[in-house]
Amino acid sequence: ALVGCGKSAEETSSTNGEAKKKVVVGTDAAFAPFEYMDKGEIVGFDVDFLDAVMKEAGIDYELKNIGWDPLFAAVQGKEVDLAISGITINDERKQTYDFSTPYFESTHMILAKEDNSIKNALDLKGKVIGVQNGTTGQEAVEKIVGANSKNIKKFENTAVAIMELVNGGVEVVVTDNVVATEYIKNNPDQKLKAIEDTKNFESEFYGLMFPKGSELKPEIDKAIKKVIESGKYEEIYKKWFGK
Ligand code: ARG
Repeated sequence: ALVGCGKSAEETSSTNGEAKKKVVVGTDAAFAPFEYMDKGEIVGFDVDFLDAVMKEAGIDYELKNIGWDPLFAAVQGKEVDLAISGITINDERKQTYDFSTPYFESTHMILAKEDNSIKNALDLKGKVIGVQNGTTGQEAVEKIVGANSKNIKKFENTAVAIMELVNGGVEVVVTDNVVATEYIKNNPDQKLKAIEDTKNFESEFYGLMFPKGSELKPEIDKAIKKVIESGKYEEIYKKWFGK
């Protein structure tokens, strides 16, 4: 089967002696339930979705946990052939990267301790806010409190930002809605709540991210379409989100 031909693809020899390339996919596995580490393995909704898409496309691949900030440089420099990481498709990123067809709709939510009086996104003003550095959550917060606000604490990953909230280092965390709601569901003892604000937080879509001009994008888009139409997507969705 035809597989990718990015610079990073490693040559492996198949049984019939033909050169076969292994596609390398990068991620930041600290973003449950989309991608996170469980007993040394990368698991999550994105991981299952990626696997279904790659199987559909007949592409042999390897998933590597390389972190969020390095991920963008790695895709741009073609050290990886693509990335899956709950990555929001937006105009700014589209200048540097190509994206697949969207596969998941998201928005932002505010995570706070149950006894915090915060009601909506406008109440973020004056609060000490944790975000993951370089995310659309950071942008959403900056729109409200200003990009230079000293009250925005930027963390390398979302898991660390949430840990800071639990430990009292920040008053709130702004992150993707499903990350917030699943965290609360899975950690009832931590007494957190999630506040939605559909007026001040916009809807956005996740896509797989490629280097500009990637030859993999068309075949992966085709495979995504099949995974959705066949009901496989729904099956994975139900496995992770139960509805
Ligand atoms: N959707 C947000 C963005 O694209 C956050 C994604 C963070 N993903 C992760 N694996 N840490 O900016």
